[in-house]
Amino acid sequence: MTDVLVIFGPNLNMLGTREPEIYGADSMADIMAAVADRAADLGRRVEMVQSNDEAVLVTTIQNAREDAASILFNLAAYTHTSVALRDALAMFDGPKVEVHLSNNDRREDFRQASMTAGVSDGSIVGFGSDSFLLGLEAIHRLLIRRGDNGMVRQIMNGDIG
Ligand code: DQA
Repeated sequence: MTDVLVIFGPNLNMLGTREPEIYGADSMADIMAAVADRAADLGRRVEMVQSNDEAVLVTTIQNAREDAASILFNLAAYTHTSVALRDALAMFDGPKVEVHLSNNDRREDFRQASMTAGVSDGSIVGFGSDSFLLGLEAIHRLLIRRGDNGMVRQIMNGDIG
């Protein structure tokens, strides 16, 4: 069981070279490394997945019902189109936070609708790669509110340190 499943949607594997004036210079590997570091500080186990395939993302979210306590997700372009991903997220009971690197509200009209925001606890948009770290912090706090203290729990169980 992982504490936080982090999902990267289509084209996020191209970050770093993909429209850096919009999405910044950090690669997906850079973001994953920063998330892993911060998760370790918070005492949270993370798993990270990237796919360009909507069906793979649906199955990943379905499986998270058994495998993960929470989901941090950037479904990229599918955010604006995918009823299937919305329905998959709706079935997941743990904390769910949507993040975007860019501020969709300042961009084209078609990016201003999110299929998935309405089944999330909240959204963090517009902070570049830091959106993932802020989203992780939000998930951490939502888990604490549910009585799951991460590091504290692990120390009590003798898992670390
Ligand atoms: C994005 C915003 C989406 O509109 C776009 O399709 C992406 C990236 C972001 O993080 O800013 O691929 O999700």
